Amino acid sequence: MQKQEQPVVVMKGIVKEFPGVRALSGVDLELFPGEVHALVGENGAGKSTLIKILMGVYTKTEGEVYINGEKQEVKSPLHAQSLGLGAVYQDVNLAQHLSVAENFFMGQLPRTRFGTVDYQRMYRETKETLDSIEVHVDPRALVKTLSVAQQEMVAIGKTMHQKARAVVFDEPTALLTADETEQLFRIIDKLKKDGVGIFYISHRMEEIFHICDRATVLKDGTFVGTVKISDTDEDGLIAMMVGRNVEDMYQIQHAEPGEVVLKVEHISRGTAFQDISFEVRRGEIFGMFGLVGSGRTEIVRAIFGADGKDGGKVTFMGKAADFTRPQQGIQAGIALLPEDRRAQGLALGMSVADNTNMVAVHKISRYGVIDNRKGVQIAKNYAKKLRTKTPTVFQRVKNLSGGNQQKVVISKWLAQDSGLFIFDEPTVGVDVGAKLEIYKVFEELVKEGKTIIIISSYLPEVMGLADRMLILYEGHQMGILSKEEFTDDNIMRYASGKNGGKSEYGKERA
Ligand SMILES: Nc1ncnc2c1ncn2[C@@H]1O[C@H](COP(=O)(O)OP(=O)(O)OP(=O)(O)O)[C@@H](O)[C@H]1O
Ligand SMILES: [Mg+2]
Repeated sequence: MQKQEQPVVVMKGIVKEFPGVRALSGVDLELFPGEVHALVGENGAGKSTLIKILMGVYTKTEGEVYINGEKQEVKSPLHAQSLGLGAVYQDVNLAQHLSVAENFFMGQLPRTRFGTVDYQRMYRETKETLDSIEVHVDPRALVKTLSVAQQEMVAIGKTMHQKARAVVFDEPTALLTADETEQLFRIIDKLKKDGVGIFYISHRMEEIFHICDRATVLKDGTFVGTVKISDTDEDGLIAMMVGRNVEDMYQIQHAEPGEVVLKVEHISRGTAFQDISFEVRRGEIFGMFGLVGSGRTEIVRAIFGADGKDGGKVTFMGKAADFTRPQQGIQAGIALLPEDRRAQGLALGMSVADNTNMVAVHKISRYGVIDNRKGVQIAKNYAKKLRTKTPTVFQRVKNLSGGNQQKVVISKWLAQDSGLFIFDEPTVGVDVGAKLEIYKVFEELVKEGKTIIIISSYLPEVMGLADRMLILYEGHQMGILSKEEFTDDNIMRYASGKNGGKSEYGKERA
């Protein structure tokens, strides 16, 4: 980053008001060519809103935007694109039903001299760009057939093809594996060398300290400050974000485990997972770790009844529990917080209160009549407990920030008062302070004698929270480690399939 250069982006005094919510009040931001600039702050601080204003998705209420020194009113995403701005959002903004190449050339299809679309040229140029960042995807493939990671890489390729001078990444690693994250960082490095300015939004401190040059901190829509990363450390940045020190993230009081509540014996399904056996006790936090694609999500979905299984046996609370429908799992007292919260977890058009009470509706009904006051009270309690940022519990969930939507999903399952809580990636997109709130809730649950299964790709989280950990590799059970056996090396060796089979402990359990 060279200061004497002209910034690619300057935002001055940005204010954004939504009905009843002042999302941004006077935020300043500048981005230089070749700079990776982090945007950090708690859930609902205004990061995504600021970026959406820059990208022409929202119109600002007040303030000024300069691109390459010229004042601009960014009217639409297409306008932003023509000004040299690109964006890679978490919920990827590609046209799903079009091919990769068509997405690259959207709005500017090349023509042959006969006036027809020059597909050959489109495919060739698309491939060249993707090759340059080592992304091996067929330019002819429809976007909807690609994995999330591939779609994200395609979205980056598209910004390069369009020669964007500033690119925004909004929580780009949330759904990526460790390898994919490494690949992303290599691409960002390349963009940086080419003089592209980058805004990088993430809740993962280690990433910010790994790749960013400066960070701008937002709090409740206000501008806290911009710091050089080399002048601060994680604690310093977190203190700016939350206004206090967050320590001892994983100081969970563990309960003394009681009797076995869940017994899983030799369950399998196709190639998704084979011969999985484990037991979980009352009051225990049982971790499941493995790389994306290792079968973690599939296994818990089979236990819950969301997917079937081909063989094996599940016993819950002493009763056969070979569920084939989620309703059976719910009735038996199992809650599953799904990984894909947008698709499976929420009714986005409905209110916070309605979402909170969606599964526990029987608890607020009498003789078939829903007691709305009670429902509202329950929703208020959980919003307070998890510090969900929303003007009221009547707000539609789609108007909440990403992390606050996640808190509503958690509330919904807590309200159901289950015996076994299965949390699949519960803290993706959740800020550091809110993570702590969620861990406190876990602590309360186990104290009350509930049982938790937690799936997380974030190793410090499973290591910190779990009493024992089942490790999976490509659908196979590699072992069950006890807390004393948790070390990074140990776990990664198992998770990469290198321990050559079950650990002694795993064998004994199986
Ligand atoms: N369309 C909308 N209507 C009403 N309020 C909104 C809308 N979009 C965002 N908000 C509110 O604006 C504030 C800022 O939200 P924003 O999505 O920018 O937060 P964020 O910093 O990106 O948070 P997260 O880390 O959770 O993604 C929040 O209080 C949110 O509820
Ligand atoms: Mg956001």
